[in-house]
Amino acid sequence: MDKYIIKGATKLKGSVKISGAKNAAVAILPAAILTEKTVSLQNVPDIDDVRTLIQILENLGANIRRRGRNALDITPGGLFRHAPAYELVKKMRASYYFMGSLLARFGQAKVPIPGGCDLGPRPIDQHLKGFAALGAKIEIKHGMINLSTNGLKGSRIYFDVVSIGATVNLMLAASAAEGRTVLENVAKEPEIVDLANFLNAMGASIRGAGTDVIRIDGAKSFHGAQHVIIPDRIEAGTFMLAAATTGGDVLVEDVIPKHVEAITAKLRETGAELEIEPERIRVWSKGVLKPSDLKTFPYPGFPTDLQPPGMVLLTAAKGLSVVTENVFDGRYNHVDELKRMGARIKVEGRTAMIDGGVKLTGAPVHVTDLRSGAALIIAAIAAEGESEINAIEHVDRGYEDFNKKLTGLGACIRRVEGPVVQEERINDK
Ligand code: EPU
Repeated sequence: MDKYIIKGATKLKGSVKISGAKNAAVAILPAAILTEKTVSLQNVPDIDDVRTLIQILENLGANIRRRGRNALDITPGGLFRHAPAYELVKKMRASYYFMGSLLARFGQAKVPIPGGCDLGPRPIDQHLKGFAALGAKIEIKHGMINLSTNGLKGSRIYFDVVSIGATVNLMLAASAAEGRTVLENVAKEPEIVDLANFLNAMGASIRGAGTDVIRIDGAKSFHGAQHVIIPDRIEAGTFMLAAATTGGDVLVEDVIPKHVEAITAKLRETGAELEIEPERIRVWSKGVLKPSDLKTFPYPGFPTDLQPPGMVLLTAAKGLSVVTENVFDGRYNHVDELKRMGARIKVEGRTAMIDGGVKLTGAPVHVTDLRSGAALIIAAIAAEGESEINAIEHVDRGYEDFNKKLTGLGACIRRVEGPVVQEERINDK
């Protein structure tokens, strides 16, 4: 596993360009197989998750042509398999979107159950309930989910919890079902809207994405399409929080300010300063931050994916801050590692109390998932002395050029290759 050696006490300064949204890309690539024709995608982030999805698509029989680093042509006409290879699927959780897209394309799908993860329990009951409502037969055997149907039929589905994954999977399947599907209590994230725009460009008929209710009139066939993936609001938020945490001054470019309103509001509460333009946001702080309470919620609330870096920001604010994680049960893996750097944090259930304002000190720490990795890296940049951030492969899965972008802002980061360690766990993204 590789590690970063970070020399800290750096105020991040300069400008950084945001890449395409990971969580839009990981839904859009599986969606591309609804057509047999060529789909051209731009602003695709060059991250490990996308590389894995490309391998899965190729393994299923799709033809992929890279046009430069961030553009792809996918031609899935020659698809001959409805069972993505376990070895690839286990690398990333979002590969379960092939349940929805293979069901739409072939009427059958065989996908491994997404397994252990680092954010607490992550059931898929809402996905399965939705597929069943559309008329799919579901059989779970030997760790595989087998889905089959003689024809999906539109239905009305009310989700008991707001789930991005279930919303995506049902949008994929319902796009090819006969008649109308109404999905209620759906996720409203910008990535859902991006997926709807992409599917509509392929000939689907999806209305209401971005609201609580999505209506889908099933299409008989899909055609080729071109699509530009939206900027990654979580990556943008990560750099915005990093700028304020380190007392720096960063211009975050290629961002949609509407998508990060919960973050700009929280930053203002802590006393950071912001200048917002149509596609860029400047964030700076003189290093004196006020404590604040942070509660995660589905969009448009404060995103759970930014809770770990948000907590690092609050360790820098003198006084008591309270974080409440409302989306996942166990998303506090970063806390013990932050404590190794001197942070004073107490966790009780879903609540974390932060006694902020202590100067963090560099330490060896271990990354267990993508966003805690980003948080620990920011903490190390702010901390006095040297830190060793282990298992940074988690970060490669979701941030394009994270170390290069941070180095461009003045951070002192060195990547050191470590011995290969077999990791058999299914990833948490
Ligand atoms: N849930 C259920 N039943 C289901 C599905 C979800 O109870 O059938 C619960 C989950 O246990 C959780 C809540 O609903 O408590 C929300 O989960 P959701 O399904 O929305 O999460 P997800 O689709 O598995 C996506 C992102 C995550 C992000 C969460 C929450 C992708 C590929 N992943 O996961 O992103 O944290 O939504 O916003 O879009 C990341 O990027 O680092 C990441 C983990």
